[in-house]
Amino acid sequence: MSDDAAPVTSKASADAEEAAINYEMAELAEEFPQAGRRRMILPSPIGFVGTDTPYPEMELLGQMGPDAVFMMGDNPALPRMPKKPTLLDFFRHRFGGITFRHLLTSAKRALDDGHSETVVMACMLHDIANGCLIRVDHGYWSAQLVAPYVSEEVAWAVQKHQALRYFADESVGYKYPESYHRFFGPDYVPPEYIRKEHEEARNHRWYMTARQVTINDIYFFDDVVIPDLELFTDIVGRNFKQPEEGLGFDGSPTAHMWRTMIWPNNFL
Ligand SMILES: [Fe+2]
Ligand SMILES: [Fe+2]
Repeated sequence: MSDDAAPVTSKASADAEEAAINYEMAELAEEFPQAGRRRMILPSPIGFVGTDTPYPEMELLGQMGPDAVFMMGDNPALPRMPKKPTLLDFFRHRFGGITFRHLLTSAKRALDDGHSETVVMACMLHDIANGCLIRVDHGYWSAQLVAPYVSEEVAWAVQKHQALRYFADESVGYKYPESYHRFFGPDYVPPEYIRKEHEEARNHRWYMTARQVTINDIYFFDDVVIPDLELFTDIVGRNFKQPEEGLGFDGSPTAHMWRTMIWPNNFL
């Protein structure tokens, strides 16, 4: 019986393998939507307001016609995301070079210094909104994005790092960043809500988790080897509740934010 069973099993696995290959080829061959027409991209207004760059809304609306529509769905200029994207897929396919390097080097530094996985995760996620979404109030956006999938402490630390960055804590060797003098000018004073957030965070039981994020929040440019993303697979597996349906499709309160990063050029 077992002699007979063996070929059946290998036939079944060969069939499964063939099906998987066919599926992959079908995915690759899948056409981009709105075929045969020019797909116009109107960038989101948040990146334009207050700048000298004219917002092209009227101009593009004027170009609209049977041959030109506004983009909806996958943009061939971007790597195609898997149907059920994971956190690491967003790192691989969506996050900008500087954010990608910065998050991984910060997390690696925390790992090498023997910090808890909570601290390592917070470091890995602390600027995630800067990767492909929005920079303004980035600590808050980053925390909100990941909150449904990480511990409360990780999300808390991600949010608070934004305010703590502006305030030295000599007792743990954290100084006001030299780079902030250059970014904002030496006379910059953080606004009231940031000062208040700092005060509150300082007295919180998770203060040191957020403070560790700021301590490891260092920009490395050309002088460092970028850690392999795969180095964090297990830590992410233990500390990030990857939804079965994929990020963006699980109906969480922040699913739309992940979808926005999958299809950043959608008109609506
Ligand atoms: Fe930050
Ligand atoms: Fe950072």
